[in-house]
Amino acid sequence: SSNSMWGGRFAAGPSAVMREINASLPFDKRLWQQDVRGSQAHVAMLGQQGIVPADDAAAIADGLAQVAAGYAADGVPEDLSLEDIHMLTEARLAEAIGPAAGRLHTARSRNDQVATDFRLWVRDSIDQVLEALAGFQAALLARAEEHADSVMPGFTHLQSAQPVTLGHHLMAYYEMIARDVSRFRDARARMNLCPLGSAALAGTGFPVDRHATAAALGFDGPTRNSLDSVSDRDFALDYLTAAAQCALHLSRLAEEFVLWASQPFGFVALSDAWSTGSSIMPQKRNPDAAELVRGHSGRITGALVSLMMTMKGLPLAYSKDMQDDKPPTFEAHDLLGLSIAAMTGMVESASFRTQRMRQVAEAGFSTATDLADWLVREAGLPFREAHHVTGRAVAAAEDAGLALHELSLGQLQAIDQRIDGRVYDVLSVDASVASRTSFGGTAPANVRAAIAAARGGETT
Ligand code: ARG
Repeated sequence: SSNSMWGGRFAAGPSAVMREINASLPFDKRLWQQDVRGSQAHVAMLGQQGIVPADDAAAIADGLAQVAAGYAADGVPEDLSLEDIHMLTEARLAEAIGPAAGRLHTARSRNDQVATDFRLWVRDSIDQVLEALAGFQAALLARAEEHADSVMPGFTHLQSAQPVTLGHHLMAYYEMIARDVSRFRDARARMNLCPLGSAALAGTGFPVDRHATAAALGFDGPTRNSLDSVSDRDFALDYLTAAAQCALHLSRLAEEFVLWASQPFGFVALSDAWSTGSSIMPQKRNPDAAELVRGHSGRITGALVSLMMTMKGLPLAYSKDMQDDKPPTFEAHDLLGLSIAAMTGMVESASFRTQRMRQVAEAGFSTATDLADWLVREAGLPFREAHHVTGRAVAAAEDAGLALHELSLGQLQAIDQRIDGRVYDVLSVDASVASRTSFGGTAPANVRAAIAAARGGETT
């Protein structure tokens, strides 16, 4: 039989494959709360404006509440003949209240309806992500404070470069997440206009009050162009862009945890709760969660690219391709939520092996720059010459199997007579980090100041 919603001009129903390729209900049922919210705002406005009789509007509002209660209690049924959540809800409404249900869709199309529902969903999702990121930032701040003085090797090219503190390293991730928070907030602010009332594409001749529905749904106002309103998915792309970048940051930290948890590094021991064993190798303690966070970031970026590819060739206004906006967005949201939760748990529970970190920092001649700087400051050498002298000191230490600060004064003076005993003040890793007091530098005092600034809301 033909479709009960749009079957007027059809004699026959769709083929089974047509039904299957067309149906979005299996995934867009996830929008049921937003769909009911949007319809409630719409019907209240229709009643207010006298577009629908007040008693019908009231009956529809009651009926929508009943439908929502049914979904909440029993789940959303997957009746593919009803295509999508919008038609299902209207069919359910008709079951609940009879023919008055047919007035709900006045002055509305599924095109402005789905654009509104999906915006509401993305907006809700951003609020969830922001809450999760606040928890992750709190975990980073707590661990950074605990390790404001803990020396570790800082790397460039993954070669020991200069000592830094673990607190400073963790605060680098705090900064990345602060930018993510700002991107999500930007996206939220930009998307907060309501497409409802744009109807199919051209607007409507009914005297709708778009400002009223926008306000009822918590939007700042109505969108300004009906064609754009039904064909725009920038709000989802903005969300996915922010999500992909956030996932990229989580992936970098996950990668560091994977490296740090390896035996050659030994910088961190993940707690039992965040490791898995091997079914064959009894000694194993694998960082699977970190690896999956690293992996998920690829899928989240894939979701962004997927929606970009869906949209790039579409003429105005709505095309059914756009129904493919939801699966990648939903998947990215779920993966990001899991990734943030997993990284938060790993950061909170990790045991950092600070003795091992210190040992590696000392072994890597990581205070060579401090020696060169000392020769400039105290002995008046040009930096290039100081660099050369220090290079010889590193070579001597390497030959002798010693750290720089373990070379005797005699060994150092054999390289350059201008070196004196005060040099030992700068050769230790602690002295090195303590000296890095430039704004944003790794000195423990700076790290504490950065944590205090973050807690005081100076950064997001
Ligand atoms: N299920 C559709 C979607 O998600 C709803 C909009 C359908 N509109 C239409 N003109 N067929 O995009």
